Amino acid sequence: METRVIPIDSRHPSPEAIAEAAALIRSGELVAFPTETVYGLGADALSVSAIEKVYAAKGRPQKNPLIAHVASVEQAKTLTDTWPQVADTLAKKFWPGPLTLVLRKKDGVPDALTGGGDTVAIRLPAHPVARDLILKAGVPIAAPSANRSGSLSPSEAAHVLGDLNGRIPMILDGGPVTGGIESTVIDVSGTHPALLRPGLLSLEEIEKVIGPVERPILSGDSAHALKSPGLLTRHYAPRTPLVHGTLVDVEKLLHEGKRIGFIHYSNTKFDHKTYVERVLPAEPTAYAHDLYRALHELDSEKLDVIVAELPPEKDAWLGVRDRLERAAA
Ligand code: TXA
Ligand code: MG
Repeated sequence: METRVIPIDSRHPSPEAIAEAAALIRSGELVAFPTETVYGLGADALSVSAIEKVYAAKGRPQKNPLIAHVASVEQAKTLTDTWPQVADTLAKKFWPGPLTLVLRKKDGVPDALTGGGDTVAIRLPAHPVARDLILKAGVPIAAPSANRSGSLSPSEAAHVLGDLNGRIPMILDGGPVTGGIESTVIDVSGTHPALLRPGLLSLEEIEKVIGPVERPILSGDSAHALKSPGLLTRHYAPRTPLVHGTLVDVEKLLHEGKRIGFIHYSNTKFDHKTYVERVLPAEPTAYAHDLYRALHELDSEKLDVIVAELPPEKDAWLGVRDRLERAAA
């Protein structure tokens, strides 16, 4: 299959391009498109055969449920029978935006979408291309990150093409995303809201609005891993082995004759660098924005090891730390 890459203006998406992409979605085909977090691989969320194509293109384990992307709260309510107060509060405050809500699913929502479970994950994205595409398609759009399963999420169209060329018919290229890491996933189907995946929207912002949210022990908590398979370790990983460390570790590895990439945020300056370096901003949102691009770039440098400096153990860094933990798993 030939993969067409269609350039599209992120702020004022061309109606012709949107119409063409929406027609593909309606006919059960896949379209990769930009959202404010990462690029998504879109399919009609109500079509079992379209969802099966997503799993096939990604090589994703069948049980992993997908996020249904909607264009309005009304459309969200077509997928769930319950709309608890906490969902309403969060939606009013953070939608459209990088927040995914897990709710009890309505009868008839395909098991293929929800991984057979009785909940459904829903997000109302802010990106104009995503919004226009959902509106024009007239159906909720299931969209995991547009990468092969287990590899890095795409923050630009070239990353999608690198992973999925020949496997999907169309990529809408709206340029690099503004967010950089995935949405925050909050389970509001139970008695207490729980964090299932830290992400672009910080827990601090969320707790300001709804009070304390239950937190999983970040990695290796199997109960939560089962509840949200996105919490399985070894996810969001570059092909190059990644370890956590500092300049001391970099030097040790250089002594062993290894080719090293170093991702850090602490602005160490050295005259004779013998490693490939990416210095990221020392602020969580800006860091998140640059992280996947830095990993993608280092991944193409044919390095033996990427050393990544872990940011502080603070709530504001949860999403970034989570991605770095998984990249190293
Ligand atoms: O930012 C994002 O969320 C991006 C863009 C494209 O919107 N999408 C994304 O999708 O990251 P994906 O499929 O790569 O990750 C979906 C996450 C996974 O962690 C999955 O386990 C969780 O959401 N999830 C989906 N449905 C769920 C459900 N019913 N219950 C619990 N977790 C669910
Ligand atoms: Mg993903």
